[in-house]
Amino acid sequence: MEPTNSTFINEQEISHILERHSKPSYEAVKEVLVKAREMKGLNLQDVAILTGISDPLQLHELFETANHIKETIYGKRLVLFAPLYISNLCANECTYCAFRAKNKAIVRRSLTQNEIVKETEALIKQGHKRVLLVAGESYPKQGFQYVLDAVQSVYKAIDGDATIRRVNVNVAPLSVDEFKLLKAEKIGTYQLFQETYHRETYQKVHVGGKKMNYDWRVTALHRAMEAGIDDVGIGVLFGLFDYRFELLAMMQHIGELERVFGVGPHTISVPRMEPATGSDIASHPPHAVSDLEFRKIVAILRLAVPYTGIIMSTRETAQMRRDTFALGVSQISAGSRTNPGGYEEEVEDEVSGQFSLGDHRPLDEVIRDVAEMGYVPSFCTGCYRLGRTGQDFMDLAKPGAIKAHCGPNALSSFMEYLMDYASPKTRETGLQLIEKTIAGMDGLPATRAKKLVDQVKKGQKDVFC
Ligand code: 5AD
Repeated sequence: MEPTNSTFINEQEISHILERHSKPSYEAVKEVLVKAREMKGLNLQDVAILTGISDPLQLHELFETANHIKETIYGKRLVLFAPLYISNLCANECTYCAFRAKNKAIVRRSLTQNEIVKETEALIKQGHKRVLLVAGESYPKQGFQYVLDAVQSVYKAIDGDATIRRVNVNVAPLSVDEFKLLKAEKIGTYQLFQETYHRETYQKVHVGGKKMNYDWRVTALHRAMEAGIDDVGIGVLFGLFDYRFELLAMMQHIGELERVFGVGPHTISVPRMEPATGSDIASHPPHAVSDLEFRKIVAILRLAVPYTGIIMSTRETAQMRRDTFALGVSQISAGSRTNPGGYEEEVEDEVSGQFSLGDHRPLDEVIRDVAEMGYVPSFCTGCYRLGRTGQDFMDLAKPGAIKAHCGPNALSSFMEYLMDYASPKTRETGLQLIEKTIAGMDGLPATRAKKLVDQVKKGQKDVFC
């Protein structure tokens, strides 16, 4: 394993490319859009050209292309998950975040293992099967062991015979040895956002704690992969710096992971800065991204890395979330709380969350809305449990193959949700969608889907292929 340093983020190269392509010709854009339809991804120059689109007609074509790629590769599925905040203790000073150490305006809380079990059970009762465990960068006296125990607590939680089937994790960067311990707890994706790839900006907004070390953070996913965690998730906090720069830097990060490990990230998250208690900058992002630019970002990513999932959180409003489904989003959170203990509490606590949310609807309402739009909500965890991670997943994620597995699995997991958790109204909408979706399938996917859905109807649980 060669030593890793952060020289793979080359700011000069990014600036040169952006300068050269700031006003691309009509033909240059056209050419990239044609290339994108081959679904083999794009290079830095291509991405720069797309960020330079200003003509409304070409923007429309970009969105059309993104939709085509999304539908071809992912079909109509949307995977659902919930974040699980176990602790808001933090030793860092990220100027945009309510959890920053010196912020006295929020109540600090780290859940006990027992409380984590309870909190998870509240999510299971809603119908969730996939959880993203989140913690600030400071742990109670047990240190890092606290996180390892927490993963176990989530898997241990049970309601009737229902459990959480995949735990993804978003915690501060670890050493290779620590990542090995995390992997041993059978986590799904390890997710970490660089926040900004622009070094100067990074140093300006991270003014205390270990997070001040840009290099330690930008090489974290290398260490995770070296430790054998195949599925990693990347992200940028949009609003801190020029989104064009961030997109190209992300491409360099992805290229580097592909070069060293033969496989890129499993997911990309696109958090956009929201107001946060005790933070001025969060209400006035230095490089605020407009709604139109935000949709453009999602579409460009869909073209640039077609096989990497795109995650949309509840930071965004219901309408923005809806808009981005067609542009490439493949995973969404729903019914989220970002304050530890928030699911067990009856009332939503906006003040103690990490940032303010744009979509406050409960899971059942989101599911019904998604289904009414013709998208199939999926709680599937099949790939990871059958060992289809990293390169194996990427190999599978070719249009035909993904449809043969993900389509049927989405339907069977959705049927399970409808039978066990849905409100009558959502159940009715959902059952109609399942019927219609199966009627529109043929060949092996259709046979598998019918079989799996029938098994669930007869009371079997957790069936997938
Ligand atoms: N608005 C939106 N996202 C935020 N995060 C932190 N503060 C904010 C904010 N004010 C994001 C960071 C962090 C992730 C868990 O939440 O990107 O990595």
